[in-house]
Order: sequence, then C-alpha cells, then structure tokens
Amino acid sequence: MCAKQVKKEARQVPTTGHEWDGIEELDNPMPRWWVWVFYATIIWGIWYSVAYPAWPMLTQATRGYLGQSTRADVEAEIKRFDDANAEIKAKLVAAPLTGIAGNDELNQYATAAGAAVFKTWCAQCHGSGAGGVQGKGYPNLTDNDWLWGGDMEAIYTTINHGIRNTTDADARYSEMPKFGVDQLLDETQIGQVVEYVLQLSGQEHDAALATAGQTVFVDNCAACHTETGAGDRAQGAPALNDAIWLYGGDRETITATVHGARYGVMPAWAGRLSEDEVRAVASYVHSLGGGE
Ligand code: HEC
Ligand code: HEC
Repeated sequence: MCAKQVKKEARQVPTTGHEWDGIEELDNPMPRWWVWVFYATIIWGIWYSVAYPAWPMLTQATRGYLGQSTRADVEAEIKRFDDANAEIKAKLVAAPLTGIAGNDELNQYATAAGAAVFKTWCAQCHGSGAGGVQGKGYPNLTDNDWLWGGDMEAIYTTINHGIRNTTDADARYSEMPKFGVDQLLDETQIGQVVEYVLQLSGQEHDAALATAGQTVFVDNCAACHTETGAGDRAQGAPALNDAIWLYGGDRETITATVHGARYGVMPAWAGRLSEDEVRAVASYVHSLGGGE
C-alpha cells in the first residue's frame, strides 16, 4: 500500500488524538461480530455458574441445577469396577491357596490385582520390581532364596502377619543374639567366626582363623543357621553358604551383624488389606520367579 492511500483512508476515520512522529491512532469501532461473541460469553458464563457447581459458599460450593459432581462420578466408576470384580474376588477368597496358580482365570486376576497392591504397599521397601534393597535388609522377592519360605502358604502367612512387628501377635518372630554388644563372644571369637562365614560363602578368608571359627559357629550359630550354614526357614535364619545377602557379605558387614545383630521388621497386612488383596499380592509374589 502506498503512503498516499493510507493517508486518504485514515482521514475518513476519527482519530483518538494521539500522534507520534506523524503516526496517528485511528478510533475504529470494534467489529460487530466480536461484540456479539463477547455478549454471548457473558450469557454463557452466567448460565454455566447456575448449571454447574460454581459459587463457593460457607461449607461447599453451589451444586448447580444439573447436579453434576466429579466426585460422584469417580465413586460410581469405582463401584462399577468393584461390582464387576465382586464375583472373581469371592472366588479368589474361597479357593484353596495352592489352587490359585493352577486356575487360569483366578491366576490372571490375582497376579494383575496383586501387582497393583504391591506397587502401592510393598514397593517402598521391596523395590518396584520386588528386587529388594541389598544391604538394607529388604529381601529380594524374585529369587528362590527364602528367609521364611516361598510356597503360597508361607508367603501368604508372612504377608498376613508380618515379621517381628509389635502389632500382630502371630507375626513371624526370631531374634539373633547380639554376640558383641551383649558380650556373648569376645572380639577374638567374633573375628574367627566371621572368617568361617567368609569361608562358608566361598570368599577369601584366613584359613587358620576360619578353622577356629568353625567351633564357635557350631556352638553359637548352628542352632539357627544350621551346621552347613544353609539357614533355617522355621526361624527366618538366612543361608550363609551362598552369595545372596540381606545385609551384606563383606568382612566388615558380617562383623557388624554378629556384633549387634539385626532385627528386620515387616508390618502385618491382615488388618490393612482385604483378604482378596492379601491373596492377590501373595499370588503376585509367588509368580515372580522364586515361588515354590
Ligand atoms: C516397612 C518395610 C516393608 C514393607 C512396607 C513390606 N515389607 Fe516385606 N519385608 C520387609 C523386611 C524388612 C523383610 C525381611 C524381614 C526379615 O529379616 O526376616 C520382609 C520380608 C518379606 C517376605 C519374606 C521373604 C522371605 O524371603 O521369606 C515377603 C514374602 C514379603 N516381605 C512380602 C511383602 C509384601 C507382599 C508387602 C506388601 C503388602 C511387603 N512385604 C511390605 C519389609 C517390608
Ligand atoms: C536365634 C537364632 C540365631 C542365631 C543363634 C544366630 N543367628 Fe544369625 N541370623 C538370625 C536371623 C533371624 C537373621 C536375619 C536377621 C534379620 O533379618 O533381622 C540372621 C542374620 C545373620 C547374618 C546376616 C546375613 C545376611 O544375609 O546379611 C549373618 C552374617 C549371621 N546371621 C551370622 C550369624 C553368626 C556368625 C552367628 C553365630 C555367632 C549367628 N548368626 C547366630 C538368627 C540367628
């Protein structure tokens, strides 16, 4: 557009009176369509605030004449799922524990529902993949090295009642003595038995100390860990003759364990999860690979 034309057009429209360096601000009216859209949004806004929950009142917002509620929608949705699953949940609760894995329909539901329970309630200790946290006493649940037992019944009992907690009278319980702290063994004996544990687990060790340590082990440790160091599930005593460690298998960590002992605690879930949830998560853990 040439400058002449702009000037001519501009002259037909009143200006606001503002002028900068010869550039003037024209006072064009707003387009009609725009003004009508603007009125329409005002009317729509008023209708919306009457139709839907909108105005905050003392205890809750106005409900709106359409009665819409996202909270009720969610509740209805949850109920729909619960109703849809009610039948299979009842079957899961009624089935014998050892019969779940063999029943395709039940097993499929239980492992899927159990994985969800696990992510919510168990992953913070056992890890989202159930691999545990080595060195912290949270066991890996995917291997076939079990403290308390890896068949369905054992897993179910462990989850229901927990381990060494103070809230469930039927919690699994055992307590390794604090050999150093309570002076049941002197430092020399502890040094010897630690070398023996290193030998049992196939690690580098001092042979002379380990030989002396074997006697200490048989007298003080075999009652729980057994003479071969294979461990005892009745007491939750871990195997010491393998490379899998709950707290750690290096010389320093084993010494600390023998000195002050450990006391791994797991909460009981019977009161917090429903029976079908406990069975589902037990099935899930059992299905992870190490189940017996
Ligand atoms: C607060 C941490 C914590 C939470 C949460 C937790 N656990 Fe554990 N769990 C432990 C500890 C610690 C042990 C090992 C205790 C021991 O030393 O005997 C354990 C042991 C187990 C065992 C026994 C493993 C074996 O080798 O015998 C199973 C099975 C298990 N947990 C399943 C679960 C399931 C399923 C959940 C969720 C419903 C869960 N745990 C939640 C801490 C936890
Ligand atoms: C009363 C039974 C009992 C006796 C006796 C006992 N332990 Fe234990 N021991 C346990 C239990 C139970 C655990 C698991 C501890 C936990 O999770 O709190 C354990 C854990 C350990 C661990 C840790 C293993 C790991 O995977 O990190 C070592 C090492 C160990 N014991 C060595 C010994 C030695 C050495 C002796 C003898 C001087 C001994 N224990 C005597 C019950 C016993």
